[in-house]
Amino acid sequence: MNSYQYVNALFTVQVTRKAFLADKVYQLYLFQDEIVMTENTLRQPKYVIKLNLTTTINWIVQDNKIQVFSIAYQNTVKAFHAPKLQILKEMIAGRVFYTSITEFYQIQMLIGHGMSGEVYRCISNSGEYFAVKKCEKLKLASCQGGIVSILPLFQPQLIHEPSLLQSLQHPNIVKLKEVYTDQQYYYIVTELIKGRALSTELQSRPYGLSVAEAIKIMLQILDALIYISERGIMHRDINPHNIMKSDTIKLIDFGLSRKIKNQLIFPTSGTPGYIAPEVINFNKGKLYDDRADVYSLGCVLYKLRESLSQTKNIFQENKEGVYELRKNQAHPEVSSIKMEQLFVLLPYMLENDPNNRMIAKVGKIVIQEIENNNQQIENQLRNL
Ligand SMILES: Nc1ncnc2c1ncn2[C@@H]1O[C@H](COP(=O)(O)OP(=O)(O)OP(=O)(O)O)[C@@H](O)[C@H]1O
Ligand SMILES: [Mg+2]
Repeated sequence: MNSYQYVNALFTVQVTRKAFLADKVYQLYLFQDEIVMTENTLRQPKYVIKLNLTTTINWIVQDNKIQVFSIAYQNTVKAFHAPKLQILKEMIAGRVFYTSITEFYQIQMLIGHGMSGEVYRCISNSGEYFAVKKCEKLKLASCQGGIVSILPLFQPQLIHEPSLLQSLQHPNIVKLKEVYTDQQYYYIVTELIKGRALSTELQSRPYGLSVAEAIKIMLQILDALIYISERGIMHRDINPHNIMKSDTIKLIDFGLSRKIKNQLIFPTSGTPGYIAPEVINFNKGKLYDDRADVYSLGCVLYKLRESLSQTKNIFQENKEGVYELRKNQAHPEVSSIKMEQLFVLLPYMLENDPNNRMIAKVGKIVIQEIENNNQQIENQLRNL
């Protein structure tokens, strides 16, 4: 029995496999989770390609146009000639690995680096700028979750970032474009954010950010956190290096993100100074969830009022969740009502017990009230 609903295919095109004696012609059908190629829709399809990161598609460009794609199929390489392959490439972007990046982008300059690799600005053949994160496969395997582990073989399922990012469409979350691979590296191509990481921004601001800027950042990141938690995802590395400040605020670096239900691999993760106590104290049987991101965002909020180079973290390692909140007397708005209100809010985000911690949705409402000059919010918070 054939279970494919060919009339419901998202895209279809005729493809040809050049053979020595006679060419073979198939109809390609794109479905939600796979590509199917068949000679006869009444029979079992000849080729089924899964749309996930176990698949690599090699695009062959001739005369500035994609003319052929090839896949490894049952240990041999199969090549297919077809028109309209650019459309197919765009429709499945980010779902499978592509090769090779040099056919489509020119890598230009280094714009950032972190645990998992370097980030470069690149330009596409059509002249558009993007960012590309180049992750060394071996390094990625050994530093998942910030914990060095020795893995005998590289496992493609360890590359969570694109598989989660590709399902996210939100104005405050970096947009994934495509993922490429070669022998040594993965290349995650995303939109290029024209701005600076909050960590860099704070270094050049001796008094930290203004209250209005802090409120704007908090509201937009809370929006992103609400959006991902509704999709069962936690970011797990909220810190000033992973928040970019441009016209809009963007959350980046989903390298440590996980499905909430699927967190048992490398459970303790994040950046020292921003990790929730339940994550540090993780032990089997007691899972944590997206409320840990709210805690980390509370740590970010605390840091926004000071120059990053001047402040210590609230804590280095916060197993007990003990911290001391100090006001930055040098901040020009230290005695403003809004600054005071943000200060009153902090302990609700930094609550030790995730069951009693403020959730992102409530945090957003409270900060909106602060933004709208609600003078009562302090009393309301104290009565929570
Ligand atoms: N899309 C982008 N546009 C512009 N700059 C970017 C982009 N993505 C990343 N960067 C820059 O590169 C830096 C590192 O990126 P990212 O956090 O994704 O890498 P990372 O290797 O996972 O870092 P780490 O794990 O150490 O936090 C960022 O702090 C930022 O400055
Ligand atoms: Mg980062």
